[in-house]
Amino acid sequence: MQRTTLPNKRPPCEDGKAEGWEKTNTPSGEVWTRQLTQEERAYNELQKAHYPDGRVESFFRILKAPADIGKEEAALLKKSFLDERHYTLLLDETGMVLTPDGRVLCILLKHRLPPDLLEAVRPVVREAAREPIAGGNRGEAAGTGMVKRIRPDGTESNINGVPNEEDLDDEHYYILKPAKGGTFGFNAREIRGGQPEGCRTTAYDGVLPEEWGLMSELAQEVGEAFRWSFVQDKWGVQFEKACQTPPAFVLETPDGPTPFTTVTCNKSFRTAAHVDKGDLKEGFGAMCCLGDFEGCDLVLPRYKVAVRYRDGDVLLADVANQVHGNTPLLNPDGTVPELHRMPERLACVFYCRKNMYKCLNSEEEENEAISNRKPGDPLWPKKKS
Ligand SMILES: [Fe+2]
Repeated sequence: MQRTTLPNKRPPCEDGKAEGWEKTNTPSGEVWTRQLTQEERAYNELQKAHYPDGRVESFFRILKAPADIGKEEAALLKKSFLDERHYTLLLDETGMVLTPDGRVLCILLKHRLPPDLLEAVRPVVREAAREPIAGGNRGEAAGTGMVKRIRPDGTESNINGVPNEEDLDDEHYYILKPAKGGTFGFNAREIRGGQPEGCRTTAYDGVLPEEWGLMSELAQEVGEAFRWSFVQDKWGVQFEKACQTPPAFVLETPDGPTPFTTVTCNKSFRTAAHVDKGDLKEGFGAMCCLGDFEGCDLVLPRYKVAVRYRDGDVLLADVANQVHGNTPLLNPDGTVPELHRMPERLACVFYCRKNMYKCLNSEEEENEAISNRKPGDPLWPKKKS
């Protein structure tokens, strides 16, 4: 990695802190130097431009969230639909929002992805967002919660989930009827429907190698935007975890591994307020979206912030820890869509799934381990070294 040093003529340790500073004797005397952090370099590179005509342009907005209503208050909003009542600051250009105590909440990088890649990957994302949200298991994001499913005879079953389409009330029917979702990449071991499953591939049936290649290329582009951002430390945590994961379970390109194992793809899904599950809490969410639409801005209600991200933008946000949801999805002209004419908005959330680093080297080894597992054995026995 390219390093830049910050020189200083005087010893910088008057306040007792000399961390990272080194003294060098030069012909012109003592010089103290320190390596700039990624954050300092980025801040420096992205400062304002002063033009001869007096114009001052900010290339990278650094904004402070206007409020913090608190974690508990924000948690009360889960499962409800968010709109302009839940934010007062809207980020819609390249920049970032810090929390009132100075942590990075979200970063928007406009037009960061190449249009030809987006065009090529669009059908893959569309296909990946394949399962109806109604009748699925994303109760919080669907806004319905997980409720007992109704059997065809009208009685309650013991299976919890998002109600089937025909059992939804009008508001949820309008939102969930067009909404689809699915994952692309890899899943960790889990118990599903009472049955253990090993680490495995998750994609639609008949997925082609070229389609894996395109999705990995998109992951690589989003990963690079993440890497060279203010949250490079979070990228570092995620990349390290991805490097500890067997290559069979990491999205990678000929350029090497990405910091992601999995992509959640959503189609025309206005999510209710929720917190993402299954991803590394120490990481950071990396997202992009495709399509021609208005609305569906991402709201972070705890801090009264919304982000408007569109086709080709990359959004980095702390979605594994912060409550978030979307404003209504609108037509490209800003009008409210009719139920059967919802615009197509494809959203991809890239993440490193928890526990994937514990997977064995291949899906075959995983299947074998699961089939040899005795009832009561832990799902993740200690890995042989
Ligand atoms: Fe989410």
